[in-house]
Amino acid sequence: MAELKTLIAGNWKMNAGGADGIALAKAVLSGATKESFSCELLLCPPAVVLAAVSHVVDGSPIATGGQDCHAKAKGAHTGDVAAEMLAAAGATYVIVGHSERRTDHKETDAIVRAKAEAGHRAGLVAVICIGETEAERDAGETLAVLTRQIAGSIPAGASAANTVIAYEPVWAIGTGRTPTIAEVAEAHAHIRREIGGKVAEPALTRILYGGSVKADNAAELLKVANVNGALVGGASLEAASFLGIARAAG
Ligand code: PGA
Repeated sequence: MAELKTLIAGNWKMNAGGADGIALAKAVLSGATKESFSCELLLCPPAVVLAAVSHVVDGSPIATGGQDCHAKAKGAHTGDVAAEMLAAAGATYVIVGHSERRTDHKETDAIVRAKAEAGHRAGLVAVICIGETEAERDAGETLAVLTRQIAGSIPAGASAANTVIAYEPVWAIGTGRTPTIAEVAEAHAHIRREIGGKVAEPALTRILYGGSVKADNAAELLKVANVNGALVGGASLEAASFLGIARAAG
C-alpha cells in the first residue's frame, strides 16, 4: 500500500477558546518548527478562536479545522456555523459526527453525511467519526456498527483527498482506556474494507484512531496496520503532550 502521510489531529473540544487557545497554538507551532515532524499536524479549536489560531499557524505546515459545521451554507440557523465560514476562518478540515455531537445533539448518520457533504462543498476535508459504544462492543456488534455508520455517514463524492475516517470507540474517549492492539487492528482493517465503494481510492484514505491517545501509547497504536494517524482530545490541550504524540508518529 502507498505510504500515507500520518495525520495527528488535536480536537480541543470546548476548551482553550480564548487567550489560552492562542497560547496553545503558538506553543505547538514553536515546538513543530524546532522539530519539523514528518507527520501532518491539525488543530481543531473552538469556532470562536479558529480564525485567530489559523492566523498563528498561517504559512506553517500546521492545518486548522472546525469541530462541526451546519449542513447549509447560510441562513436562519441561530448559533450554527457553516462549513464556508470555517473555510473563511482559515480551516482546511472539519470534524463531523464526533460521538459527542451524535450524543449531545442527537446527530444521526444522515445528519453526519449532510455535514460531511457541506464540508466538501466548502472545499474542506471532512474527518468523519465513527465508533461503537461499550454496550455495542459487549454485545459483539462493533463491526456491524462500523459498517452501518460507514454506509450512512459517508456522502457521495467522498475521496481520499477530501475525506478522513476517524475510528473512535465511544468508551475509549476521555477514559484512559483503549482497545487492545488486536481490536484496533481488527476495526481498522474492517473500516478499510468497508469504505471500498464509498470513498474513491479507499487504499489512500487515512483512517485515524481516537480515544485516549497519549504520548506514551501513541507509538504502539500508530504502528498498527491501517492506522494512519490519531484524533487526540485531552492530550492535545498541552503542547508538550500533543508534540509527544507527533514525535511518536515519527
Ligand atoms: P480523548 O478524546 O483523546 O480525550 O480520549 C478523543 C476524541 O474525542 O477525539
